[in-house]
Amino acid sequence: MKGKQWYQTTDVVETYETKRFSQGGQLIDDREKRAVLDAIGPVGEKRVLEIACGTGRFTTLLAERGADIVGLDISSPMLREGRAKAVRAGVDSNIEFVRGDAARLPFPDDFFDTVFAMRFFHLADRPASFLAEMCRVSAEQVFFDTFNGRSTRSAYNWLLPMGSRLYGDSEVERLLAGAGLSLASAEHDFVLPYGLYRKLPNDLAADLRELDVALGETPVGDFLASVSYWNARVG
Ligand SMILES: C[S@@+](CC[C@H](N)C(=O)[O-])C[C@H]1O[C@@H](n2cnc3c(N)ncnc32)[C@H](O)[C@@H]1O
Repeated sequence: MKGKQWYQTTDVVETYETKRFSQGGQLIDDREKRAVLDAIGPVGEKRVLEIACGTGRFTTLLAERGADIVGLDISSPMLREGRAKAVRAGVDSNIEFVRGDAARLPFPDDFFDTVFAMRFFHLADRPASFLAEMCRVSAEQVFFDTFNGRSTRSAYNWLLPMGSRLYGDSEVERLLAGAGLSLASAEHDFVLPYGLYRKLPNDLAADLRELDVALGETPVGDFLASVSYWNARVG
């Protein structure tokens, strides 16, 4: 997995959020956070594990809402950013950040209620084994996103230096079944390329987003969406 190495370098880590989620990219950050909150629901009573938590965008968000949460990532520099974010938000005492490999999770079976991973499966060379590990340590729910092969992303995907695996619906459905998961719901979004958003100031990006959402509501737009959010139940 090239992504395992890519997110270890200081340059990549320090620019991770500004490159992706500043200016119009904030709309992508907002959408992803809504996807996580909608899927997981109220977190107050839940034990949650975030796989590949990176700079802690979601870990902090869920800790602020009362989750008992562990953020696991293989990159010490990404975890350092995550810890700093949690301190700034005043929720560092509610989060345990763990350095570890998603392929071998250091937790017993059914230890968490919910296990989720965002922007991780495109880096996975063996998605079935990662999903099986997520399923093993979750008693109830597994949630993740994928980038889709039939989207505009396929035109530039090969250029991405960290490597990027694209998926099809039937492949994800096979992966879920293989891991013993049943699909509760799926959402598909972003017909227009992600890259356009972060190059635009907020007001122009908001117009673009409106167009994107309108396209996504058509059957063709839904079919061509570049991101899917998969919400699955254990068993
Ligand atoms: C694109 S970043 C996503 C970070 C965060 N989930 C987000 O959406 O902002 C991918 C993350 O996956 C982590 N990663 C890659 N391979 C991993 C592995 N085998 N186990 C745990 N984390 C891994 C990287 O270190 C990086 O932080």
